[in-house]
Amino acid sequence: MTYQKAFWELKKTFSDFNDGLIYQILEFLSGENKTWLIENWEKPMTNLAKFAEIYKLLLSGYPFAYISKNKTFLGHDFYVDESVLIPRDETELLVQEATKWLKQYPDCKVLDLCSGSGIIGLTIKMNHPGCQVTLSDLSAPAQIIAAKNAQKLNLDVAFLTGDFLEPSLENHQKYNLITCNPPYVDKTDKEVGASTIFEPEMALYPPDLSQPLYFYEILFRDVFKIINKGKPFALLLEFGYDQKEKIEKIIFRTSWLKGSNITFFQDWAGKWRFVKIEGELKE
Ligand SMILES: C[S@@+](CC[C@H](N)C(=O)[O-])C[C@H]1O[C@@H](n2cnc3c(N)ncnc32)[C@H](O)[C@@H]1O
Repeated sequence: MTYQKAFWELKKTFSDFNDGLIYQILEFLSGENKTWLIENWEKPMTNLAKFAEIYKLLLSGYPFAYISKNKTFLGHDFYVDESVLIPRDETELLVQEATKWLKQYPDCKVLDLCSGSGIIGLTIKMNHPGCQVTLSDLSAPAQIIAAKNAQKLNLDVAFLTGDFLEPSLENHQKYNLITCNPPYVDKTDKEVGASTIFEPEMALYPPDLSQPLYFYEILFRDVFKIINKGKPFALLLEFGYDQKEKIEKIIFRTSWLKGSNITFFQDWAGKWRFVKIEGELKE
């Protein structure tokens, strides 16, 4: 089978894969880049057994990112495996907004809460090396992956391991920017992506399944305790495509947020996906 034939075979079978992903699969198989593939389109593939093996895995719904152990996020390659959520493209928008906010406050303290593979905090550190960035997650295996990514990208960041806000509270840490992409998936939702069956449950679902916004309730109740007072702060928080109204309700009944600027953002598909809350708390 030629590379060209393999391309069309993948395209026909996996109609939801875009061309970029199919090229990534062929790049992974050949060990060559896209230019080489196009120049050698008519050449027979040398590793048909590997192609067959990957094809079978993909047919079972197994995500390509776990096969290649890589996910590109805002142009940088991050190591991923089954101990972490596969970073979603829409999270790039949240990180771009964080990067924009930090232009005004380039050397402040940043917390990436529920950090997983580290994509949010590590990309922020790359864009603003003057910031002190902390990555916090309950999952020790996820923290190992985040540390591996920090080392690979040569980034000096701090790590906290523990339950949500607890490690920051215990260590009396205060931050100006807090990003958070917590587990918020509703288990009854039929629209969740196919990859979720292979991803860690604790990265997707809150501990109380009847309460998808479990982490938001805790966050809005307690996060002010870890915000640096007397200085501008921002919270950038990702949520599910159908959760904006519920998040709004929690925000509007949170008294310490009165007077803050609140902006909701949509993804490329026009779905509401994250909120930015800016303000300053009195000392
Ligand atoms: C939706 S994933 C986000 C991962 C990464 N920030 C991203 O955007 O790809 C949620 C993360 O929250 C972590 N997590 C789950 N329960 C937690 C808890 N109680 N405290 C801290 N982190 C938790 C999971 O281990 C997982 O890494």
